[in-house]
Amino acid sequence: MAPHGDKSDAAEDAMVSGAEKRSISSVLIVIAMQTEALPVVNKFNLTEVPDSGFPKGVPWVRYHGFYKDLEINLVWPGKDESLGVDCVGTVPASLVTYASIQALQPDLIINAGTAGGFKDKGACIGDIYLASDVAYHDRRIPIPVFDLYGVGLRLTYTTPSLQKELELKVGKLSTGNSLDMSPQDEASIVANDATVKDMEGAAVAYVADLLKVPAIFVKAVTDIVDGEKPTTEEFMQNLVAVTAALEQAVTKVIDFINGKCLPEL
Ligand code: ADE
Repeated sequence: MAPHGDKSDAAEDAMVSGAEKRSISSVLIVIAMQTEALPVVNKFNLTEVPDSGFPKGVPWVRYHGFYKDLEINLVWPGKDESLGVDCVGTVPASLVTYASIQALQPDLIINAGTAGGFKDKGACIGDIYLASDVAYHDRRIPIPVFDLYGVGLRLTYTTPSLQKELELKVGKLSTGNSLDMSPQDEASIVANDATVKDMEGAAVAYVADLLKVPAIFVKAVTDIVDGEKPTTEEFMQNLVAVTAALEQAVTKVIDFINGKCLPEL
């Protein structure tokens, strides 16, 4: 990595501040499940791009369109080739985010999806959260400094005006590759001080940070992790209704973003 203050750093800083001064023109929405993605695709009249620019044979799906002054790309990691279910989790999310940034050079990433919420932290079914920071709860490496690497804490792009205007709840998001919660995961989620739990956020945040693209995280609560009902049952029961609420929240976020530059968010 180049030392701070050298020419390439200065050029990169100039590019970043240039991007901050002009209106946001290109937004990348990353969504893991088809059920979560389709209401947003329909709302913005996005169409599937047959020649997506992704490597041949990958299941990743890109939808594209224009809404007001924005170019919108929505990417979904698609279905597992042999099992036919959505490619949820951190690995597909990071791969599709990386490939999409490389191909599309978005000004802003929105990772939208469902999440489990903690009632002890004030979450209710159908709540929409904007994540203030994102970390992992299933990467335990009990060696000094590697422990912090495992947690992978990243702050999200700060959007005080967006939060205020849309009256969104704000909370910390914790990510792991399981829908359920083991006692070890629970201890890490408590340590992360998380209000919501998902399966992709920290992976999208890692890639966005790596490639210096601002990212925000909009999560809709389908199940109460510290409640009475079994997670799977509650998740399946609420999925369709909550994805409708998610679409409405994403629409409001997009409407707010339209015509603004990054520091105005
Ligand atoms: N997405 C929706 N509910 C979830 C949960 N309980 N854990 C992880 N991801 C989720």
